[in-house]
Amino acid sequence: MSSHPADGPSADELREMTTEEAMIAGAEAQGVYIVHRRDRFPIRGTRAEKRAERGVALAFTISALAGVGFIVAFVALPYQWHLPGTPQNFRFYTPALGGLLAIMLLFMGIGLVLWAKWLMPEEEVVQDRHDEPSTEEDKLMTQATLISGLEDTGLPRRSLILRSLGLAGGALATVPLVALVGGMIKKPGKQLDHTLFARNTALFPPSGQVPLVYDDWRRVSPDDLLPGGIATVFPGVREVGPDGKDGITSASSPTLLIRLRPGQKVQSRKGQAGYGWPADAPEFLAFSKICTHAGCPASLYEQQTTRLLCPCHQSQFEVLKDAKPVFGPATRSLPKLPIDVEVGSDGRQYFIAKSDYNEPIGPGFWERS
Ligand code: FES
Repeated sequence: MSSHPADGPSADELREMTTEEAMIAGAEAQGVYIVHRRDRFPIRGTRAEKRAERGVALAFTISALAGVGFIVAFVALPYQWHLPGTPQNFRFYTPALGGLLAIMLLFMGIGLVLWAKWLMPEEEVVQDRHDEPSTEEDKLMTQATLISGLEDTGLPRRSLILRSLGLAGGALATVPLVALVGGMIKKPGKQLDHTLFARNTALFPPSGQVPLVYDDWRRVSPDDLLPGGIATVFPGVREVGPDGKDGITSASSPTLLIRLRPGQKVQSRKGQAGYGWPADAPEFLAFSKICTHAGCPASLYEQQTTRLLCPCHQSQFEVLKDAKPVFGPATRSLPKLPIDVEVGSDGRQYFIAKSDYNEPIGPGFWERS
């Protein structure tokens, strides 16, 4: 026979009690006093109870439907960016996924709150705190409290709620799976192979060669840079955003334009001679600014050592060897942009890209050959 605590019933007495009585005794022995407790539906199976149950189940069902909508949107909605001038319907992709996920979580929360408010017993308790270790009686009373709590939810007998909650929970659980597995199924295809420097005769007839501009849309001229100087430049492709303002359209195209010091000679990679300007003895070189390790902007240029540093994980690229990695975790050279100059209407020389980068910019991805 178990010991009899000074402030509560014995184990044998507790075994004789109903679950609810044991729960209340347990609560009082722990310094938790139930001031008020009322079953919302003392008579089981009334129409009011069924109505409340259906309301809760409806919230869980909406949550589950939003989960299904999330999966369908992930698979079916267009998500790829296109060159300006072609339909840009990818903009709905992320808001649709975010909106459906929000609906799923919102209705899951609404269902749980309604369940507690409409179906579980109404209760008001006051609790003292104490630090002693648990006795056998404490454990039995805690067990009774947990079982009573489960019975209060009505889960064992409310199969409609149980099924709809299971459905909503299942849909919620698929969200991380969709992101993990779906990312492997929906491969990026060719979309990561090109930047806005790709020739575009629709925007720049007849040559299709894209001008290099600063972020305020001024064109870039060789006279702008002193020897040893650098500038971040972009493709001069304008797009009117949803707000009606011009914007730089692609985060994939920032380019570092470097002017070498006199006497510095470039050792070009195979097939990449003539990419700088002037082509025969390049003084200006243009590299992708996106680090090939993890995509940070690699733009700390040391004029004396001709090294480009990436601040994120300290990769270093040797500019005179076509930005070959010489230190740090990056394993691939920064892609080089073939550049040239043209004479503008004001008689000044301005840089243009002769073509796109000849390899994908940024960190490696699995389809790269
Ligand atoms: S992102 Fe440049 S070194 Fe890691």
